[in-house]
Amino acid sequence: MSFPKLRPRRLRRSRVLRDLVAEARLDAGRLIMPLFFKEGISSPEPIESMPGYYRYPVEKAAEAVEEAYSLGIRAVLVFGIPSSKDELGSQAYRKDGVVQRAVRVLKDTYGSSLLVATDVCVCQYTTHGHCGVMARRPGCKGDECWYVDNDRTIGVLGKIAVSHAEAGADIVAPSSMMDGMVQAIRRALDEEGFSETAIMSYSVKYASSFYGPFREAAYSAPRFGDRRSYQMDPRNAAEAVKEARLDVEEGADILMVKPALPYLDVIRLVKTSFPEYPLAAYSVSGEYAMIKAAAEKGWLNEKNIVLEALHSIRRAGADIIITYYAVSAARWLGEASF
Ligand code: PBG
Repeated sequence: MSFPKLRPRRLRRSRVLRDLVAEARLDAGRLIMPLFFKEGISSPEPIESMPGYYRYPVEKAAEAVEEAYSLGIRAVLVFGIPSSKDELGSQAYRKDGVVQRAVRVLKDTYGSSLLVATDVCVCQYTTHGHCGVMARRPGCKGDECWYVDNDRTIGVLGKIAVSHAEAGADIVAPSSMMDGMVQAIRRALDEEGFSETAIMSYSVKYASSFYGPFREAAYSAPRFGDRRSYQMDPRNAAEAVKEARLDVEEGADILMVKPALPYLDVIRLVKTSFPEYPLAAYSVSGEYAMIKAAAEKGWLNEKNIVLEALHSIRRAGADIIITYYAVSAARWLGEASF
């Protein structure tokens, strides 16, 4: 061997040395914990497809974040499950809707020390389960005649965002993948005096089967058809740049790629294309359920797999990670044993 001897192993010799040179770092401050609130229940309800996860009554909102908060998590993403649905999803912008009430309890309890983000969409609120207002192609018969009316939907999204901001949300997170949704929301917020409310856009959201457990958790599976006419085709990566660019132009503050693990290349691409924008990655319900199931069978070491997966998402370029493992990860990261 010639001189000098190139030995990458030199830097792997001890934990402290590995910690010193580690590239991707993660701490609880970068995690967002999703929370489900359901109308009409009085105690937390376990979600079958997501073991260890619960739907909470609004009254227990403060309790739902207690442990996360004590472990250093400072951001939550609120989802609502209303007790009734209609064609237009009008329960989504009620002043005393489930999300609006949950946000108020969280803000009353934690004030500005907890960031409250809200999912802005109608799929949990519509009888058909689609992420927008449906319209029918004239003269056409059958289920395939229905389509999501983009421009009527973004008006509704604006109303929902304003109602969340009124309740005290710091960040609104539109997830319906409608064209122009960020601009419509920005306009609506600004007109109502909420120019400080930030928008974290689900910019690059794929039509993914990894959302399966969530749809059970939130009762939001579409009654007919699928979401492929608005969510992105999993075969595409370059198109992610187009989606992210439009959101940037429309005024998004934070971009997002979703799901995370099967789309690490897309996370990297979006981060490289828009390095000046914070990027969130949503590690979705299917990612959680896969690891949980394998861990329950004793096939994987849950802690090691979760920390490895989360660091991979960071390494790919995500600044923020939305994960159902937030609480466990925060605890494991505190044990400093990666
Ligand atoms: C739509 C929404 C979905 C998720 C977050 N927001 C479901 C969907 O698009 O079908 C999925 C999150 C997950 O699977 O963890 N409001």
